[in-house]
Amino acid sequence: MICLGIESTAHTLGLGVIDGKKVVENISATFTTTTGGMIPSKVSDFLVENLPILLAKLKTPLNKVDLIAFSQGPGIGHSLRIGQFLASALSFKLKIPIIGVNHCVAHLEIGKLVTKAKDPVLLYTSGANTQVIAFEGGQYRIFGETLDMGVGNFLDAFSRELGLGFPGGPKLEKLALKSKNYIKLPYVVKGMDVSFGGLLTNLKSKLKSEKKEDLAFSVQETVFAMLMEVSERAMAHCGKSELLLGGGVACNSRLQQMAGIMCKERKAKLFVPEKQFLVDNGAMIAWLGLVQYNAGKRMKASNIDIRPDWRTDQA
Ligand code: ATP
Ligand code: FE2
Repeated sequence: MICLGIESTAHTLGLGVIDGKKVVENISATFTTTTGGMIPSKVSDFLVENLPILLAKLKTPLNKVDLIAFSQGPGIGHSLRIGQFLASALSFKLKIPIIGVNHCVAHLEIGKLVTKAKDPVLLYTSGANTQVIAFEGGQYRIFGETLDMGVGNFLDAFSRELGLGFPGGPKLEKLALKSKNYIKLPYVVKGMDVSFGGLLTNLKSKLKSEKKEDLAFSVQETVFAMLMEVSERAMAHCGKSELLLGGGVACNSRLQQMAGIMCKERKAKLFVPEKQFLVDNGAMIAWLGLVQYNAGKRMKASNIDIRPDWRTDQA
């Protein structure tokens, strides 16, 4: 069975094709800017412009596709609507079933498929989302999450203060390599959860007095340590011995290194999917759609809406 997955929760439009358990195609277009951040209307203009371009690049003939899956949520309404529109139109025209999937769960399931992890705790760190997720007691559960912004949006917001452009995470990572001077910053772990708002305010107050590279280094050390603490606690709580990384921020080498150290210390295994499966992508949507379709899930095209606030633990 061949499934076409459509990803459009935020700034990436992705098309992925899965045949059985094989990723056949995974192509995408991602919005970037050198000024400011993500303005929803600008992002949706970008996604609409790129939709016919990506469709033209797709090698799989549409008449070979058996199932359409799309990201139903969570995400930015403007962006989600575009994927839903394309999915509904294709399902109607090709007369094939459609299935809406939860984007966060898709990160977990594609990670398992491509790394062969069996029962991991997922540390999912992207722009909008920061969650520690695991399948436990018959459902997906959130064992820790951000109480305000996602770690990626936090890194992007701080990068904007430094004038680095969007997305800022990769630029901050480069800048951090130029320093080893740790400046003490607020470390905010509340139970199983993390928060970044106060840290951002604190960093802004240090912009004039401290060197940019020292702040970049210190911010990475601090927030990645916070993420390791809550991930490790979730692993201990669930008795799981696998950690899987997901989301764009997991492309960061220092984050991967810290996760490696934490896993080694507790004799656990770390799984890091290759970059195309860490960032938002269509293949993960196709794969989760296929898994759910095979498990018997069905949806009516006439009855499908987007779910911008859909939580992982409701999926
Ligand atoms: P979601 O819809 O799941 O919230 P997203 O739209 O934010 O996802 P992703 O591609 O998963 O998309 O993540 C993008 C984020 O990842 C951005 O905030 C970006 O700054 C961050 N990022 C990418 N590469 C790195 C890196 N090397 N270091 C730190 N952050 C990074
Ligand atoms: Fe994502």
